[in-house]
Amino acid sequence: MRCSYSLFRRRLRRGRICRHFIIVLDSPAKGHERFAVPTLPKEYPNGLAIQPFAPAWADDVLEPVISARTISFHYHKHHKAYVTALNGLVEGTPYAAMKLEEIVHKTHAGPKKIFNNAGQVWNHDFYWRSLSPKAAAPQGDLARAIERDFGSAAKLIEALADAGKTQFGSGWAWLVSIAGKLSVVNTPNAESPMAQGVNCLLTVDVWEHAYYLDYQNERPRYLETVLAKLLNWSFAAENLSKESRPVRSATE
Ligand SMILES: [Fe+2]
Repeated sequence: MRCSYSLFRRRLRRGRICRHFIIVLDSPAKGHERFAVPTLPKEYPNGLAIQPFAPAWADDVLEPVISARTISFHYHKHHKAYVTALNGLVEGTPYAAMKLEEIVHKTHAGPKKIFNNAGQVWNHDFYWRSLSPKAAAPQGDLARAIERDFGSAAKLIEALADAGKTQFGSGWAWLVSIAGKLSVVNTPNAESPMAQGVNCLLTVDVWEHAYYLDYQNERPRYLETVLAKLLNWSFAAENLSKESRPVRSATE
């Protein structure tokens, strides 16, 4: 099932998308933890899982689908800029003592400047984890849920591609689970289902900076290639099992 972001929000307001999934984190971080670009999955060879911005960062692990040049801008410049801006914005505010996901959740209605940067940091953390250079089919409970709710993994990928293609302007396409049922939704700018307490399984970035260097204006070709070759289904399966705690770190 897929719905537009506006329909998604209307359903959420009407209680048709479960508000009870919105939870407050039980314990804030101790002190101000500076936000950092994520530690990425160990399955990335040559280590994306290192300190951010280190010279040894292997930018080419997703080639040929996503080039090292794209990563050099997307990860090292765009993602870094959101991290830097967020750290500056929260300095000396109560948000400095909160975890990233809590800031996203609490600032969803404003202040927008903090939300936009926190949202973009969380969304990018989640995006990097949604990708894997090792293509593998969905397994177990996830595979059964996909079969039940979409008919097949191919149909789900079609729905995700459609969500990404039809997102007007910058944004994201998401696979989410609500009460165990899978659906696809797109969100604009820095928005995410997580910000509204909905469990995210996977995302694809459809901001132009995610694909323009490799695919120019061909967003559909970027989507079709990434969705066919890079989706991290084991990450999606982990996230499906965490539905009772949808507001959580993108990197746990
Ligand atoms: Fe991005």
